[in-house]
Amino acid sequence: MQSFDDIALLREQIKLYKREGRKVAFVPTMGNLHEGHLTLVRKAREHADVVVVSIFVNPMQFERADDLANYPRTMEADLEKLSAEAVEVVFTPTPEMMYPQGLDSHTAVEVPGLSNILEGASRPGHFRGVATVVTKLFNIVQPDVACFGKKDFQQLAVIRKMVEDLAMDIKIVGVATVREMDGLAMSSRNNLLTVDERQRAPVLARTMRWISSAIRGGRDDYASVVEDANDQLRAAGLNPDEIFIRDSRTLQAVTPESKQAVILMSAFLGNVRLIDNQTLDLASEKDEVVTEESHSEAN
Ligand code: PAF
Repeated sequence: MQSFDDIALLREQIKLYKREGRKVAFVPTMGNLHEGHLTLVRKAREHADVVVVSIFVNPMQFERADDLANYPRTMEADLEKLSAEAVEVVFTPTPEMMYPQGLDSHTAVEVPGLSNILEGASRPGHFRGVATVVTKLFNIVQPDVACFGKKDFQQLAVIRKMVEDLAMDIKIVGVATVREMDGLAMSSRNNLLTVDERQRAPVLARTMRWISSAIRGGRDDYASVVEDANDQLRAAGLNPDEIFIRDSRTLQAVTPESKQAVILMSAFLGNVRLIDNQTLDLASEKDEVVTEESHSEAN
């Protein structure tokens, strides 16, 4: 495995791969790698000859300085995991390299419509930061394929729109959420939970499952479904943030024409904000059931 922290040297290596006719798949990450990331790496491998992974905690997508400072950083362990997956290239730039003139004067990529709703409304600037860094990483790595987790449902939608709008010649692959045995979606933020919080955390997925079966059972009073779900979260010691039930394609309100809904959830445990989502097929009333036995969800 080759590790680069220099943009020019990485570009040379990528050019070499391209000259050899090798297809490049890319997995952008912020490190603190877990099984969810490694699943992305394995999926990337299915699509290309060379897998490039970036590890960069992107300051532009954090709205709170304390959240950026507390984001878990485990570079040495991350490199070991990637090496065990036989990843060809790891790119580990510094903030100074990615934003040499600082964040405020850097060109930004704005994806209208999707960036400022839902999670984007409660985290202003977050999706601009994501779209900007992903564009820059794409320009550096020049991948044929890039893999993103479906756990970040809105992020995946933002990236798909960006790639389409800006005619980027990159295939975007969405990869199913990987779950712990108790249903909790894998996330680097799980490492920030105390033992007690970790025990409570699966309630998020459990409540999501409850919402899904309530809708399948015929409830279409979404506002009160959300209220009931928030009560369940509070009763389990979570601090509800937001629950949205939206059309999975437009991320707007569900209409009679909607074929599939998505339940987007976030809640705090202490200072840690956890997110999760589940799609729900409205047309055939079939949804993806997240069970504690099956801990990999296809959504
Ligand atoms: O999903 C993430 O880890 C980040 O948002 C990404 C896509 C690596 C951009 O910094």
